[in-house]
Amino acid sequence: ESVHVFAPATVANVVCGFDVLGFAVNEPGDEVIMRRKDKPGITISKITGDDGRLPLDPAKNTVSVSVQHYLDSIGSSDIGLDIELHKKMPIGSGLGSSSASTVAGLFAIKTLLGDDTDPMKLLPFAMKGEEMACGHGHADNVAPALLGGFVLIRSYDPLDVVRLPSPKGLYCAIVFPDVDVPTREARQIIRNKIQMKDAVTQWGNIAGLVSGLFMQDVDLIGRSMQDVLVEPVRSMLIPDFYKMREIAMENGAVSFGISGSGPSVFAFTRDEETAKLITQKLQQHLTNIKIGSNGYVSPI
Ligand code: HSE
Repeated sequence: ESVHVFAPATVANVVCGFDVLGFAVNEPGDEVIMRRKDKPGITISKITGDDGRLPLDPAKNTVSVSVQHYLDSIGSSDIGLDIELHKKMPIGSGLGSSSASTVAGLFAIKTLLGDDTDPMKLLPFAMKGEEMACGHGHADNVAPALLGGFVLIRSYDPLDVVRLPSPKGLYCAIVFPDVDVPTREARQIIRNKIQMKDAVTQWGNIAGLVSGLFMQDVDLIGRSMQDVLVEPVRSMLIPDFYKMREIAMENGAVSFGISGSGPSVFAFTRDEETAKLITQKLQQHLTNIKIGSNGYVSPI
């Protein structure tokens, strides 16, 4: 008996909503194959697509650790499981790579055990995986990976997650410049004190973005996607960030920003063609400055 689960990449923060907003894309994503075995305990028999960067030790891998937390919570700690993880997206990309793996693992165990409770119940276990992967249990990647679409984390304590609508026809262009930006480090450089005037700008933008999603008002979405708190600092870790913004905006983007903690960047567009064009232009620019990249286009 085995199950095969895919979980998607996600764009956390959505520019103005640090740690509180995220959405899922169609691709890329990770796959987990999970099998029951007789011998109790979790093993990881295979990981592909990670260039040897992820641990096979079940005590150190975010997938097995979060699955073990789930099993402990339902009193089934001794079940025998084998996990294969097939990474089909880059690690350390700011596209929720660890979340995609963790959510695929949790969904796999839920399915394997025939647990038909609300997938939302898996969220605290997925957040444990995030905590292990980057030192902080934020939910703005795991929640959209689990639920799909746009998600708001209204509160962390108590956890309160709200699904938001996605406007029809909105597309996302994503480019991952091949430089390493570990989330742990990208979190350490953020200022932890902010000015009231910046807070006012930021919450105006978050409210504007959420309103824009409900009203299907793409202009409002676009002008709300500005970040005065985190982007000014994190943009320094991304090659030619402001030049890439200029290229995206000149070629018809509605908005442009950092995906999660970077280095990936993303742009919203009104159609697929524009998203493809922007991906291509940004990748061309990165090639010109001798940086490799991956590009993706997805409806939202
Ligand atoms: N909200 C998190 C951060 C997402 O920006 O650090 C990490 O992908």
